[in-house]
Amino acid sequence: MSASLFEPMQLGDIALANRIVMAPMTRGRAGAGDLPTDLHETYYAQRAGAGLIVAEGTYPSRHGKGYCRTPGIESPAQIDAWRGVTRAVRRQGGAMVLQLMHVGRAATRHNKAADAQTVAPSAIRARGTIYADGHGLVEMETPHALAGHEIAAVIAEYRQAAVNAVAAGFDGVELHCSSGYLPMQFLLACANQRTDGYGGSLTARLRFVVETLEAMAEAIGAGCVGLRICPGNPYNDMHDDDPAVTYGALLDAIAPLGLAYLHVSRSPDPALDAFALARRHFGGAILVNDGFDGASAGRAVASGVGDAVSFARHFIANPDLPARLRRGAPLAAFDRALLYTPGERGYTDYPAYPADVADVEPTAPGQTVAPGGLQS
Ligand SMILES: Cc1cc2nc3c(=O)[nH]c(=O)nc-3n(C[C@H](O)[C@H](O)[C@H](O)COP(=O)(O)O)c2cc1C
Repeated sequence: MSASLFEPMQLGDIALANRIVMAPMTRGRAGAGDLPTDLHETYYAQRAGAGLIVAEGTYPSRHGKGYCRTPGIESPAQIDAWRGVTRAVRRQGGAMVLQLMHVGRAATRHNKAADAQTVAPSAIRARGTIYADGHGLVEMETPHALAGHEIAAVIAEYRQAAVNAVAAGFDGVELHCSSGYLPMQFLLACANQRTDGYGGSLTARLRFVVETLEAMAEAIGAGCVGLRICPGNPYNDMHDDDPAVTYGALLDAIAPLGLAYLHVSRSPDPALDAFALARRHFGGAILVNDGFDGASAGRAVASGVGDAVSFARHFIANPDLPARLRRGAPLAAFDRALLYTPGERGYTDYPAYPADVADVEPTAPGQTVAPGGLQS
């Protein structure tokens, strides 16, 4: 019998009430000290009807901060502040993991603490710009190439961040290994020219991601750790000659870990079916993402393409997305100008669909989202 979007499921140790996942979204609302605020509590609690919320990309250490007003999970104050958010979500019956996002070279010092450093596998600058408050768009900077002992320290930071996330009340963590950030920089030769066992051959380029996942799984349990990939994603100046080979090898290498889930986004390369690749190489639960609406998500789960579907943009203006999909209610459109702006406008002020409006038959969404949209 085929599964439905509205059925419960288990992702490793994490129980989901339905298969509609809120994908991670950077929203630029962190407060002083890179803390989540009361606004985050409201925002995520409003969206707790998702079977699982993957909270926005959050830096494991200050060296990994990329964008302005993004939160961390490093300091005791950050852990405390996140605790308020996870409690608010739990009160609404939701489950929540934290996405660990270390941007590596996709960074500018203008967005980070004075004692933080931009690091990467090799001292190769990503061609492109990044926004910084007070500076506008600036060039991304040339990173410091991590020495061998510094790689061990970065892996230890991820491990500690996973421990901190659990202390903050999260059900687990997701490693952001897409969008040209640090783990992906290790995977691909365009950013990784090392010759010390962490670069050179494909097996060596996989090593950082494998060891990071091992460290996090050892610390909090593999059933609480997920991995996010998007094979062939060129974002932040990345290039992969053969993403099917890279990610097939990566998934084979992590198979023994028994992670909670794999979160896979559609490849921008139309010739590569990233969902099928994931099924071939990953034995656990698979979350599929990018450009889904209610109907296509229902088909993806019913046909077994994915075990659950994650939605990002539809969750922005539809805090009650699962209820709307179930009722066939129309979907509201979000305001692009308010995606990353501080404050509640465009963040916590999108209303739920009125309860007193009669249920309607499923319709096309009010705003379609094309695959390969915004990301960070
Ligand atoms: C405002 C915004 C912020 C995003 N931030 C993140 C992020 O922090 N981490 C991440 O892995 N993806 C991020 N993404 C990508 C989304 O998780 C998702 O992959 C993409 O929007 C496609 O899914 P959708 O078609 O359901 O919107 C972001 C997307 C948007 C629109």
